[in-house]
Amino acid sequence: PAPGWAIEADVVVVGSGVAGLTTALRCAAAGARVTVVTKAKLDDGSTRWAQGGIAAALGDGDTPQQHLDDTLVAGAGLCDEPAVRAMVTEGPDAVRRLIASGARFDTSQDTGEILLTREGGHHRSRIAHAGGDATGAEVSRALVGAVRGKGIETIENALVLDLLTDAEGRTAGVTLHVMGEGQRDGVGAVHAPAVVLATGGMGQVFSATTNPPVSTGDGVALALRAGAEVSDLEFVQFHPTVLWLGPDAEGQQPLVSEAVRGEGAYLVDADGVRFMRGQHELAELAPRDIVAKGIMRRMRETGTEHMYLDARHFGAEMWAHRFPTILAACRANGIDPVTQPIPVAPAAHYASGGVRTDLRGRTTVPGLYACGEVACTGVHGANRLASNSLLEGLVFAERIADDIRANPPTAGAPVPPGPSRDPLLEHSARYEIQRVMTRGAGVLRSAESLARAAEALEGIHAQAVEDLERDGKTAEPCVETWEATNLNLVARVLVAAARRREETRGCHWREDRPDRDDTNWRRHLVVRLTPERT
Ligand code: SIN
Repeated sequence: PAPGWAIEADVVVVGSGVAGLTTALRCAAAGARVTVVTKAKLDDGSTRWAQGGIAAALGDGDTPQQHLDDTLVAGAGLCDEPAVRAMVTEGPDAVRRLIASGARFDTSQDTGEILLTREGGHHRSRIAHAGGDATGAEVSRALVGAVRGKGIETIENALVLDLLTDAEGRTAGVTLHVMGEGQRDGVGAVHAPAVVLATGGMGQVFSATTNPPVSTGDGVALALRAGAEVSDLEFVQFHPTVLWLGPDAEGQQPLVSEAVRGEGAYLVDADGVRFMRGQHELAELAPRDIVAKGIMRRMRETGTEHMYLDARHFGAEMWAHRFPTILAACRANGIDPVTQPIPVAPAAHYASGGVRTDLRGRTTVPGLYACGEVACTGVHGANRLASNSLLEGLVFAERIADDIRANPPTAGAPVPPGPSRDPLLEHSARYEIQRVMTRGAGVLRSAESLARAAEALEGIHAQAVEDLERDGKTAEPCVETWEATNLNLVARVLVAAARRREETRGCHWREDRPDRDDTNWRRHLVVRLTPERT
């Protein structure tokens, strides 16, 4: 639909997690007129849910090189080394700047130094945390507080629909659908020559995920429709230890942070056997893909639906002090981790791929940037190292803001948007897509399961096209129908990539191709759709 209103900015930031708000603050500090648009409230994205912390070489004897080495091993041969080097080298100072802007990390009572813990794949304690296991909530609190009063315009309850471009194909702003915000209700536009996508992930493409309900792949879908390159979508990371709430649990599930294992919890099967021993030198602290696979294998061998995480030895005081969020979530679901092992199973957690960027966060569309989980900067490769995500968001947000300041994008008047080729799907399609994806493209994949998923997803799309052709109308435009449409688009591209990658690497696990194939597959799958409106 044509926008009913428009406002002007120099930079529009889409999303309000660590990546979006850090970009907005740094652009505003450099004098840019910044508008932040976010789908729900400012703190409703994934950042708030991050538990473990931020990885950075802050500890005695640790170095960016060691952090780089661990990141490359976890990434299973597909990390972009210059991108990783930028992140691990600039990371420690970026964390210090975050602290200077008001974020309070846990510190030693004796020395005042930041406390650091371990997580999977790290050979050192380098994870800074806040509020015990509420790091993301503290980061979000600090950044939301810092944004207020800085002259940054914020528009909440605003789902971004599509990129606007000028006659030369340069970024000229975005269209958005705003709900319940008074005079800016309905479909409008923010005109700006620089657009930063910081929309987070797409975990809601699966039935069970640690991601909040807003994580519906909107940024990747927008980028695909705009003709930007998207890469590595097949690498969906499944977090090994998500509280198991039964076989039919759907939607956002409670995370049990890797930091619990970092502090000494171990995985056992129903007979109390520590099955990760002997599978990897780091046992429970192996990279995340290896632990997720270890759990899935043991579940199969024992014919069970979950394993257990045992941390009874922490005792009541440590649980309450170090992991208050997880303790509360477990107790709310009838498990007391002080006296019982915690039932856990893998669930969708993080999109290692996304909108392809260079080292300055620029996508392949001039003036369009991507940052945080929506982006594929190359730092994660085939499997993100634990707690590198907040760090990536911080470092690349600063890089984007610096690039916009040094090389301000320019644009002419936006070309009026035409009709979209993707008809809107009914809200109910969301649940169908999730079931199809969980069955066919979850932790374990095969050519056959992926083919079934592809067919079902194409069927959902084809049905909507047929309905449009027959009745001349699509589902009613609203957040739920746009989200379902975005989910189907990213799911189709994800499944196509997973079908093509005929090997097992990182978090992409093909039962029918169980080995890593460096001869043919040490490369990225890059997708670019023809832009819709050219
Ligand atoms: C966790 O706390 O286990 C999550 C950390 C991450 O996903 O990086």
